[in-house]
This record gives sequence, structure tokens and C-alpha cells, in this order.
Amino acid sequence: MTAVLSREELKKKREQYIVPGVKQLFSDPPNLVKGKGVYLYDEKGKEYLDMFAGIVTVSVGHCHPKVTARTIEQLQTLQHTSTVFMTQPMVDLAEKLAQITPGDLSKTFVTNSGTEANEAAIRMARLASGRNEVIALRHSYHGESHLASSITGNHTWRPDIMPAAGIHFAANAYCYRCPFKKTPDNCNLECAKDVERVIQTQTSGRPAVMIAEPIQGVGGAITPPDAYFGEVKKILEQYGVLFIADEVQTGVGRTGNHWFGITNWGVQPDFITMAKGLANGLPIGAFITTPEIANHGQKQQINTFGGNPVSSTTALAVLETIEEEKLMNNAKVVGEYLMEGLRDLQKTFPQVADVRGKGLMVGAELADEHKNPLTKEAARIVDLAKDDGVILGKGGLYGNTIRVKPPLTITKENVDTMLKSLRKALEATVKVPVS
Ligand SMILES: Cc1ncc(COP(=O)(O)O)c(C=O)c1O
Repeated sequence: MTAVLSREELKKKREQYIVPGVKQLFSDPPNLVKGKGVYLYDEKGKEYLDMFAGIVTVSVGHCHPKVTARTIEQLQTLQHTSTVFMTQPMVDLAEKLAQITPGDLSKTFVTNSGTEANEAAIRMARLASGRNEVIALRHSYHGESHLASSITGNHTWRPDIMPAAGIHFAANAYCYRCPFKKTPDNCNLECAKDVERVIQTQTSGRPAVMIAEPIQGVGGAITPPDAYFGEVKKILEQYGVLFIADEVQTGVGRTGNHWFGITNWGVQPDFITMAKGLANGLPIGAFITTPEIANHGQKQQINTFGGNPVSSTTALAVLETIEEEKLMNNAKVVGEYLMEGLRDLQKTFPQVADVRGKGLMVGAELADEHKNPLTKEAARIVDLAKDDGVILGKGGLYGNTIRVKPPLTITKENVDTMLKSLRKALEATVKVPVS
């Protein structure tokens, strides 16, 4: 066994050997050495309640016994062949995805990450449609590669290199900071209509595809109104544009009661991309599309590690666990309890300016009375909660949204613990509670 370094030793070594662009969530990060269920442990044995699940990835809890056993069994039987050889786990996984995705989505390509899934879906959309241009949303995050960062609408995650061509951004459905200065009761869904304006004024009128997250994850749990995606889909169909729902964060039950987030909006996408929670932390990504698109978009494809037996078997075990433990229902019930708790905090702390999300995909945006983002405060709150033994995420264009996206196994008691910790951190940070 490798000797476990102290937090200070590891920090020093990391700074020496890891590229500096790979930032840490905490200003003083713990050395995490163990995970069990909804808890993480550092090298000194300190316990942390994990309300961020890696980055929205550990869907059924850390080191779930059944899932881990299946992973180990597969590792000891057959680890690798690559997609040019025939193995069963990838095909079983694809069959399962066809069963749990909406409509006639039934043809899958398995990758190693969400970035690759989005890349591959866009490639197929382009091949199938014979068109090129892509529409994305402002405040989105779709991955790290050249194309995926070019369709990302957030400067923090876009390197200053020549972006991929033919990408156009529409306004996102950000009701708290409406780009059209409207309120939900009088907005006439201007944000959805913006997609048509973008098609008419920024493209050839024949874009290939639009990609959108049902709830923007890195963007800070930005949750569109109920009618939004229906209106967008109508416009896309009018112009013959395909639609990719990027469900890398919202997928596999996180939004509660549905396998995929887009179902909350009653819309049928042409592609769903997924990753993160699908294999509970083992590297995986996938897109699924219709037979018609897959046939039209044919071009030889390969992925050395994509669909490997270990990740595929693990993903199947994760999906079975979500069903057996009724975790989609848990995400809905505990998610509602969490939102209520956050709304309750708003009564004392108006700086918790907007609480939004669905299921266990929740964000609390911090702002002052003029809606100025409380960015430093958000960072401090995440640090204080960590010191108190609770791990929270952070995001949004301004870094001022607390992201709460725990394993789907979380309980109401866990939520109470988290809310207590958040209250303490708010008291220490934003100070002026309303009595
Ligand atoms: C919505 C969304 N799409 C794509 C990605 C990229 O996934 P990966 O980091 O697995 O490449 C992410 C990662 O955070 C994401 O949140």
C-alpha cells in the first residue's frame, strides 16, 4: 500500500506535479481517502456529509456494495477489448438505455466522458442532417474539448483559443436574471423565442442541431419555466433542427421520478447525452438517438475505452440499484424537502435570493438587495460548511450559486444536517439576518 500523505504534504506535491489550471473547490482542501454511502473521510478520519456527490456523479452513494461487487467481478473476468471486439456488457447497457429513455431513442454510442458524448452526438447530428451550424445556450457547460468548450456559454470554461466555427448562442431561461428584463408572469417566453431570432439572424437558416441542458448545472441549477422546451422544440421542428438534451447532470433519475430531466418538460429530444452518474464515478459517457438518425449519420466510429466491460457492467448495476432502491422517488421527495428548507432559510437570509431546481438538482443563488452576486460570500460559505463537515458545490456564471446535488440516496435527516450547517455559514458570512 502507498503511504498516505498528510493534507499539507499532498497539497505541496499536487502543486508540484499537476497543471495549475486544475483548480480546487476549497481554499484549504482536505485529503479525501475514503467514501461510504453519503459520507467522505479525510486521512485523519474526519467525516464529511457529501452534498455534491463528486461533481454530481456519485448517484447511488460512495462505494455502493452491490455496484462495487459487480465492478470487481467484471474487472477480474474481462476488463478490456475495445469497440472493434464483441462483448456483452456494452450491448446490455445499450438495451437498458433504450428501455429507460423516452420515445424511440434506441441506438447508443458509449464513450468515456460527457465531453466525448456531446462531441459524438454533434458529429452524428451533422452527418445525419448534412448541416453544420450548432445552437447552444448562454451560461451552458458542455465539456472540455475544443468543440465542447466552444458550445459552452461561460467564459470561465472557455480557453482563449480560436473557438470552433458555426456556433451560435441563444438567451437562456434564467428567470431570476431574465435577459429580457421580464418576469415569469409577463414574459411571453421571450427566451424560447430568441432561438428563432438566432436561427434567422445568426445562421444560414439551416442549423444542424441545438444542444441544451434541461437544467443548467455548472450554470447554477438554472431551471427553465414549464413551457420553455415545448416552445423551443416547436421552433426547432419548423426549421428542421435536431435537439440534443445534455443530461450529463440531470440524467439517471436526479430530477426525481423520471430517468431523464427533459421528461419534466414533456419534450422528445433527438439525442440524449449522459455521463457522470451513469456509472457512479467510473469513467463513462454515452449518447442515444433514433434508428433513423443513426442510419443517416453513419460513418465508422471507434472508441478504445468507450463501452469497456467494467464501466458498462457498473452502469448496469447503477441503473438496477436506482430501480431497486426507488431512488428516483427519493430524489423527488427529499428534493422537495431540501427546496422547502432552503426557502425557509430565505426568510431569515434574503441574500439567499433564488432557490431553484428539481429533485436533487438544486441551486441557491446568493445576491444582495440589488441582485449583485455575492461571489466571495459563496466561496466562504462552501469553505465554512466543509470545515463543519458538509460538502457543498458552487457554480454559476458569477460563482455565487450554492449547488446541492447529493447522492440520490440522501435522507431528510442528511438534509437537516446540511441546512443547519448552511445556516451557520450564512450567519458567519452575510451577517444581517432579518429578525
Ligand atoms: C452538462 C454537462 N455536460 C457535459 C459535461 C462534461 O462532462 P465530462 O466532464 O465527463 O467530460 C459536464 C461536466 O460537468 C456537464 O455538466
